[in-house]
Amino acid sequence: MKKFSITIAGGGSTFTPGIVLMLLDNLDKLPINEIKFYDNDEERQAVIAGATDIILKEKAPEITFTATTDPETAFSNIDFVMAHIRTGKYAMREKDEKIPLKHGVVGQETCGPGGIAYGMRSIGDVLELIDFKDQYSPDAWFLNYSNPAAIVAEATRKLRPDSNILNICDMPIGIEELMASAIGLSSRKEMEVKYYGLNHFGWWTDIRDKEGNDLLPQIREHVSKYGYVTVDESIQHADASWNSTFAKAKDVQALDPATVPNTYLKYYFYPDHEVAKSDPNYTRANEVMDGREKFVFGECQKIIDNGTSEGTELHIDEHASYIVDLARAIAFNTKERMLLIVENNGAISNFDPTAMVEVPCLVGSQGPEPLVQGEIPRFQKGLMEQQVAVEKLVVEAWNEKSYQKLWQALTLSRIVPSAQVAKDLLDDLIEANKAYWPELT
Ligand code: NAD
Ligand code: G6P
Ligand code: MN
Repeated sequence: MKKFSITIAGGGSTFTPGIVLMLLDNLDKLPINEIKFYDNDEERQAVIAGATDIILKEKAPEITFTATTDPETAFSNIDFVMAHIRTGKYAMREKDEKIPLKHGVVGQETCGPGGIAYGMRSIGDVLELIDFKDQYSPDAWFLNYSNPAAIVAEATRKLRPDSNILNICDMPIGIEELMASAIGLSSRKEMEVKYYGLNHFGWWTDIRDKEGNDLLPQIREHVSKYGYVTVDESIQHADASWNSTFAKAKDVQALDPATVPNTYLKYYFYPDHEVAKSDPNYTRANEVMDGREKFVFGECQKIIDNGTSEGTELHIDEHASYIVDLARAIAFNTKERMLLIVENNGAISNFDPTAMVEVPCLVGSQGPEPLVQGEIPRFQKGLMEQQVAVEKLVVEAWNEKSYQKLWQALTLSRIVPSAQVAKDLLDDLIEANKAYWPELT
């Protein structure tokens, strides 16, 4: 079997060690001859890379490993880029979450003003990575899960239409794992789903087992009682804040009991509740810095100090195996059915053909073939039209350096109560993001 060469962009990410361990666990499905890390923060990446070097020497010495901040080294002679960068790192995520809360508005990484601010930072950096890939390995595929994926995906559609790019999110996968566990299946892979929406903004309309039996009634009933909370504690996102998100899905589903929803809709349906229970001085960014970041960097440093990964508590990110499924689908033309963020182009027949939507696709060596989901109901259509306009306005604002369009985007966001609040927020966000946003006029 051919062996592949992979660049992980955002080598210093907290998710990198789990993904590397997952790749090593799947070498029979996706053989690898080279892994490269690329990051623009050499020091941060060095800790993850130092530990990875030891892990690879112990578990797969045949794989060549390089960690670099040089684009040519990173992006030459590769088959895949797996991109998970965070422009501005957690320090800026913290601001994305805290600035809106100061104005009484939801502060969230990917939704509302926080997501818009993050989008304005991410677009340029993700496009830069795509340009490096196109320059040094034009045939390689760029698998993007850098957030905010909805806005980044729209930027790639509009501004890099001819590059090989796939945009994907792990939230539906995580939720499907919970659904499977709730109804006693051993894996989400026993289910086949219909789903439509935007990224972090969608609904499951049909869920069946491989024999075609309808599983949705049972799942709907579970969600209407418990949300996505299950008793299985081995599942990712075990923090208390995630558990409360999974529980809140019950109230989100109440708006359309015929379907089951993406958890992120809670920020749009219950913003007042979210603000009331937020601590403006300690948000999810603080939780992640005190939790996952300390843990991952601590464990990597231990591996470096001990010269061995023996006894490490770092574990395989099982749930990230969708990345291998995606790479395999491209590499071996498997036609695997996966939810991706793609140009609508008729998949949702009564919706903007140029919108980036999240729908099931068959993925093969030519990329994704979206599967038709048909017409969507008025409620969802109304919500999605408003939200997709926000996302498109952000990309236009970035591209045209337009203050006016970004003000419009913030005003149009369901989460922001008025144009005045939108303007006050915008002015604070501009100040905080000076080092990252284009200068708006
Ligand atoms: P992190 O801050 O730990 O890691 C991000 C890394 O990217 C850092 O090491 C940083 O130095 C690096 N970076 C920033 N700008 C860069 C640039 N221009 N070029 C190269 N490297 C750059 O963050 P994390 O929590 O591990 O998350 C990483 C990313 O993955 C985030 O965008 C997050 O939102 C995203 N994510 C997406 C999904 C999804 O469903 N799509 C799931 C999980 C995480
Ligand atoms: C889910 C979403 C991602 C998001 C992540 C945040 O996996 O799909 O888009 O980045 O949650 O998780 P965190 O633990 O960093 O809050
Ligand atoms: Mn996501």
